[in-house]
Amino acid sequence: MRILGISCFYHDAAAALLVDGALVAASEEERFSRKKHDSDFPRLAIQYCLDTAGIAAADLDYVVFYEKPFVKFERILTTAVQVVPKSWKVFGDAMTTWLLDKLWVKNVIRQELGVPTDRILFSEHHLSHAASTFLCSPFEEAAILTVDGVGEWATATMGRGRGTDITLMRQVSFPHSIGLLYSAFTAFLGFEVNEGEYKVMGMAPYGTPRYVDKVRQLIRLESDGSFWLNMDYFCFHHSSTQTYNRKFLDLFGEPRDPSWHFFTEGSGYPSYFEPKPGNYREMAAKNQYYADVAASIQQVTEDAVLGMVRSLHRETGLDKLCMAGGVALNSVANGRIIRETPMRDVFVQPAAGDGGGALGAALFVHHCVLGNPRQFVMRHAYWGQEFSQGAINDFVRDCGLPHESYSNEDALLDAVVHELHAGHVVGWFQGRFEWGPRALGARSILADPRRAEMKEIVNVKIKFREPFRPFAPSVLAEAAERFFDLPDTPRHYPARFMLYVVDVKPGQETVVPAITHVDGTARLQAVHRAESPLYYGLIERFGRATGVPVVMNTSFNLKGEPIVTTPANAFSTFQRSGMDALVLGNCVIRKAS
Ligand SMILES: [Fe+2]
Repeated sequence: MRILGISCFYHDAAAALLVDGALVAASEEERFSRKKHDSDFPRLAIQYCLDTAGIAAADLDYVVFYEKPFVKFERILTTAVQVVPKSWKVFGDAMTTWLLDKLWVKNVIRQELGVPTDRILFSEHHLSHAASTFLCSPFEEAAILTVDGVGEWATATMGRGRGTDITLMRQVSFPHSIGLLYSAFTAFLGFEVNEGEYKVMGMAPYGTPRYVDKVRQLIRLESDGSFWLNMDYFCFHHSSTQTYNRKFLDLFGEPRDPSWHFFTEGSGYPSYFEPKPGNYREMAAKNQYYADVAASIQQVTEDAVLGMVRSLHRETGLDKLCMAGGVALNSVANGRIIRETPMRDVFVQPAAGDGGGALGAALFVHHCVLGNPRQFVMRHAYWGQEFSQGAINDFVRDCGLPHESYSNEDALLDAVVHELHAGHVVGWFQGRFEWGPRALGARSILADPRRAEMKEIVNVKIKFREPFRPFAPSVLAEAAERFFDLPDTPRHYPARFMLYVVDVKPGQETVVPAITHVDGTARLQAVHRAESPLYYGLIERFGRATGVPVVMNTSFNLKGEPIVTTPANAFSTFQRSGMDALVLGNCVIRKAS
């Protein structure tokens, strides 16, 4: 049984292929097209999935789309009609774009893949999210929470899964949406919607949540976990370009200018910005206000998510939880779930955003529609393309670059540890690339976490990011508790996928300063030998050399670009940055110093 799941035409387009219930390949389209957040039909990702399985589109039993376009279109039209005449523009835009492609998804799939229409099925947006987490979780029975901007109508659902059954018991409907509320503040704080949400989360620890009461004027949280937005403050329901309105600005003041650098008295002024401005103090104070707003919206979001989780626990009596939807990528909120609610075990789909809907749609049909028993647990995120050592060798030889090949794995790892130990920044390209937005040791940039200056060095050499973007630690799962406050770390699946923010243990922040955020937390990745043997071996060896089995890990890309896919992408990134060494499989390329 071969089932292809597809998501596209909204945020991140993606494809995922199940063969007899096991995931064979999955990727977002942006990794191949090199267009960040590419939402077009995922031709290249589909071709990659088919090639990996060694099949053609004609061999597919089903193709499943991750949402119901007609229901979504109905929501857009209904909403537009309710707020006429303010909405005439959104109505016109919707008619144009939806009538071109989105409504006729079935025809697009038939034309692109040559699959007969009776083999093309549709799931529902939040059902796809729910299936993408529960059906590949290790749990036989669990509560399910999905939270995002919006699907067809739902913006959040609360449900339960048992075996191959998923029941979504309750939903919150558009326009009441935690994801859209967070996006409104993302825009207000000067960041791009659907891209800058991480920045808001990273900025929050520089602030104090002193405006929680104001944010609470925008959203009412009920005791049963549901919530209502006060639509007097928003215009996303009748505008395709603006999320908040004048009344919102009366409450929070003018939005932060996107061209400003972010810094506060607490963060200091990074050396890689332009020379320190004359009005440094004034700008630091202005930014401090926005950091306080970020802290406030982050806290209200956490409170909303925790309210839903507690309510789910009360209703289901279950202490296992599966989560997906874009808001499930809020790793600070996730960290609070495991610390502060009765949930004992949590699973979060690593591609929790709409890309992951492709996998969920395929899993939904395989198990819930066709009734096949479950057998697949997503223990790692390495579902992308890999390149053989032969292909890498050909590439390196064609470039004519001086390099060293290490046929012995110990010698390779020793060489990389030597680079890290010397304070060098290393591009690490190994095996299949990751599914979802996090780099987890297949396409990563690595450095020594013990050196406080590494944050600044990596930012100067490669990332050029604001100081509020923390760098993450990859740590041996068994050694994690020495550094991080996450008891019994190996048990926690979200830690495998870098989806928990936890406290760095007292005293350890001076041991691993480069991966400790300003508030003493870290977004750890617990690395397991069984799933990532080479990466585990590297960290283990670094630990033997230094006493600290942790490396600093950030995604292998330049600012604004998708994470690298091919050796050529990696090499181009290496050349255009100040990275010191590039490890492609067992080849090490060093920059002449
Ligand atoms: Fe979604």
